[in-house]
Amino acid sequence: GPTSAPASGAKTGSGGTITMGFAQVGAESGWRTANTKSVQEAAKKAGIELKFSDAQQKQENQIKAIRTFIQQKVDVIAFSPVVESGWDTVLKEAKDAGIPVILTDRAVDTKDTSLYKTFLGSDFVKEGKSAGEWLTGAYANEQGPVNIVELQGTTGSAPANDRKAGFADAIRADGKFKIVASQTGDFTRAKGKEVMQAFLKSQKDIDVLYAHNDDMALGAIQAIEESGKKPGTDIKVISVDGIKDAFVAMTEGKINVVVECNPMLGDQLMELAKKVVAGESVPTRVETQEGVFPQDKAAAALPSRNY
Ligand code: AHR
Repeated sequence: GPTSAPASGAKTGSGGTITMGFAQVGAESGWRTANTKSVQEAAKKAGIELKFSDAQQKQENQIKAIRTFIQQKVDVIAFSPVVESGWDTVLKEAKDAGIPVILTDRAVDTKDTSLYKTFLGSDFVKEGKSAGEWLTGAYANEQGPVNIVELQGTTGSAPANDRKAGFADAIRADGKFKIVASQTGDFTRAKGKEVMQAFLKSQKDIDVLYAHNDDMALGAIQAIEESGKKPGTDIKVISVDGIKDAFVAMTEGKINVVVECNPMLGDQLMELAKKVVAGESVPTRVETQEGVFPQDKAAAALPSRNY
């Protein structure tokens, strides 16, 4: 029969159902949708009661959601911070209420690391570096300049800050690589397309697009095609995430390389939550494993992409 939860109020420890408040960023990308599904399914599987909130990419909504979770006396709060800064006050409130916090996917910028138990997610700097290293490899025998336009993720978010920094780091040593324009596309297809249209108008000679996620790359590809150019050929396209649609675009020759970012964090999150609620110690950083997929690996990998 159905597994029924014990009477409410039964908290941690033996047999008590754990309640988790999860404050999600939004539904801005294919990656995010997969991440939400992973968290929801994993909670069900783990027998954890999930209170889910969608902040629609606004920090104020996320802060409100966290305060509601505190009022509801959830056992653990997990969230993926929209932006990096500005969390100390609300995290202090959670701490004072005795509710442990787990960061998933994105980190916060705080000096007080006692405000959260652990951070589960990708190394975004490494992702940016991998993107840049692919580029320096691909253009090793080419003469410069190599004009790059960059579509940044949400302003102030960890993945935007870190993917920008990692990429810049990887291309810095060779002066032929020039980032000629860089602007946010907020991790969405619509904005990616819109900003790419502007880039195509303002920049005469674009060799490479570096998009901080697949959705922006896919939007930009439409803009490139509408301008009469061939994405992947006339303008090389580098992207991050690894959603199915991006693999399809790679098999069509429209994206040259995708750096993977793994959204399937649900199971690990539930495991960490159980430990944290039980008062067990957990590592302060749990990093997800991910790869790099150049175009010639796309067709073989496509069938096993699960997001
Ligand atoms: O924080 C992870 C990033 O957020 C993903 O790369 C992007 O697609 C999402 O919106």
